[in-house]
Amino acid sequence: MRKPLVAGNWKMHGSRQAAKTLLESIKQGAVGISDIDIAVFPSFVHLQQAQELLAKTSITWGAQNLYVGESGAFTGEVSGPMLVDYGCQYVLIGHSERRHVFKEDLALVAAKLKSACDVKLKPVLCLGETLEQRKSDQTEQIIAEQLESAIDTVGIKSLQNMVLAYEPVWAIGTGLTATPEQAQAVHSYIRKLLAKQEVALANTMRILYGGSVKADNAAGLFAMPDIDGALVGGASLEAKSFLGICEAAVKEFKEGLLS
Ligand code: PGA
Repeated sequence: MRKPLVAGNWKMHGSRQAAKTLLESIKQGAVGISDIDIAVFPSFVHLQQAQELLAKTSITWGAQNLYVGESGAFTGEVSGPMLVDYGCQYVLIGHSERRHVFKEDLALVAAKLKSACDVKLKPVLCLGETLEQRKSDQTEQIIAEQLESAIDTVGIKSLQNMVLAYEPVWAIGTGLTATPEQAQAVHSYIRKLLAKQEVALANTMRILYGGSVKADNAAGLFAMPDIDGALVGGASLEAKSFLGICEAAVKEFKEGLLS
């Protein structure tokens, strides 16, 4: 049985005070939740607060991005070793906002993935199609290209240390969630792609769903056999809704153990 992960991607939100309040509320609310993993992804400038407030809890934290290499003349960028210094366990790679707003291509995403693996950060590699691609029946092709480019660069074994997140671009921040069945179909396809290379990895890989996940639609998604948690944007900015999603994951996990 795969342990669910619920991850909050805060994006470019929050003041220093707001980050403190949110971290403290999540910390309090998560006491006693042990059946799932919980992670938060604040902005770079709030990572130190995460490190201070979440140390000695079971909640982990990560960064939303990194740049390739260990150091260098790259004004404005942050490297993997810098994130490790702030206690990050995870880093988001290939989020659709990076791919589409910041025009990160397959090669750059793959290079970032490699830099994360080099310093033992766990990448959460995001995969997803745009609305046009879905409408023209290209979803599987796009997902396969994104995943295969990653595997070609870091090697299939490195995926053991990763989490995948299926995030249809059309469902991110739009209020449009993929139905549980739509999401399940893609998650199962991703698992089949992995199984072609390594069956054991396909069975253990956590594949999160992301795209307008809320406390009231999470249970339906988590009930699907290949959905192992969520990457949550908007609803992770409020402790109550984020914890509601965590509780839905706990419930599904427990029911899964009984069935
Ligand atoms: P959303 O964002 O939950 O606000 O749709 C998800 C994400 O971008 O990770």
